Amino acid sequence: METAKESRPATASDAAHGPRKREAFATGLGVLAATIGSAVGLGNIWKFPGMTGQNGGAAFVIVYLVCTVLVGLPVMISEQMLGRRARKDAVNTLRELAPRRQPWWLIGAAGGLAAFLIMAFYSEVAGWVFAYVYKSVSGSILSTDPATNSAVFGDLTGSAWEALFWQWLVLAWVGVIIMMGVAKGIERVTKRLLPLLLLLLIIVCVRSVTLDGAGDGISFLLKPDFSKVTGAVVLAAMGLAFFKLSVGMGTMITYGSYFKDEQNIPMTATRVMLADLSVSLLAGLAIFPAVFAFGFDVDAGPSLLFITIPAVFASMPGGDFFVVVFFVLTAIAATGAMLSIVEVPVAFLSEQFRMSRKVATLLTLGLLAIVGAPAALSMGELSDVTIFGKTFFDLYDYASSNVLLPLGGMFMCLFVGWVWGFDKVKRALSNDGKLNNSRAITVFFTLVKYVTPLLVLLVLLDGLNII
Ligand code: PHE
Repeated sequence: METAKESRPATASDAAHGPRKREAFATGLGVLAATIGSAVGLGNIWKFPGMTGQNGGAAFVIVYLVCTVLVGLPVMISEQMLGRRARKDAVNTLRELAPRRQPWWLIGAAGGLAAFLIMAFYSEVAGWVFAYVYKSVSGSILSTDPATNSAVFGDLTGSAWEALFWQWLVLAWVGVIIMMGVAKGIERVTKRLLPLLLLLLIIVCVRSVTLDGAGDGISFLLKPDFSKVTGAVVLAAMGLAFFKLSVGMGTMITYGSYFKDEQNIPMTATRVMLADLSVSLLAGLAIFPAVFAFGFDVDAGPSLLFITIPAVFASMPGGDFFVVVFFVLTAIAATGAMLSIVEVPVAFLSEQFRMSRKVATLLTLGLLAIVGAPAALSMGELSDVTIFGKTFFDLYDYASSNVLLPLGGMFMCLFVGWVWGFDKVKRALSNDGKLNNSRAITVFFTLVKYVTPLLVLLVLLDGLNII
């Protein structure tokens, strides 16, 4: 195992010196931990179960798995490869690697927009998690009664001040960590605590699947009913695959730019994908058996996690304590993901405009406090205000996951497959011939050149009702 001694870890003062001295992840293990830290987050614990419940269970999960392998993974490898080659933020990576005058950097710019939209609602959901930490410490929220649990959640999301307070607290928290710098801030937080989250999820799974009546929840997750799979459902599953792996907007370009030259990218990306899938499936197994056992509504979407988890802990010895730990770990997982989202605009602003990271971070988070507020109010004051039939919260989510990320991913593949070409890909992914992975590279290249972009295009056209 590599240790941090091999190379000097980057420090906050490196960060303050701005664009010239790039930071780097200190160790190979740090790369894996930070990348998993970006991928694993509310997407696994909150979004995956919520969407699976709304979209009919097992069939949705299968479509999602296929999209992850055929779309998410190739895009992740592409991004990390490009970022490491150029060692720049997303916009400037694409600008540098593309032939002159070809506007591929627009992918990076669209990614910046996606990052904003995602953060605008993600920070609110993270706010709910922080609020649940507070609530579970300050008084018991444990109950198996659907009405009680829905009321606790409804009070939180319905109150304008509470919703805004928690969102802004989250933004401030992210700001403090990001100003500490990449290696120090991100590696430290994620490396240590994700294994604990995994362990706790396993414990919750065991409790959940042994509840009376859990069987229905297990079959909901395992027995597919493909009659529920429409074009819109496939698009939702593909959008989730992008969101989950943090791809399609340049996060993985930015992270790739901090990778070491020796990092084996296809291997790293595959490991990240497997780890990420495991956490999602575990979260599903922790939640659905309980949903059915207690007679909750599987269709609850965004509130599903927050009403079900207290019920599982209510039926567990030591539940009062474990529920606090659960929400604390979820908050930490959400933090790792948010750091990587905010890193996209921060890296761009600081390198493009020679801003200090501090100023770039403050600017980004200040803007987010404004753009995010309507999402925070979407379950309360602004619940009647809709655009294209969606609240701000849903609109930010839909526009980013179902439109911007797939478009970004598709163009990224087209760039790698048709502009960059096989020779450069081969050199980049074999670490200039040092790795013996030509079969994997050929498979990757075929996917990226033909299969992935075509698939994304078809799903987009069908899901958006264009064909
Ligand atoms: N993958 C993260 C999650 O599942 C969210 C994310 C999306 C992070 C896009 C970065 C970029 O929680």
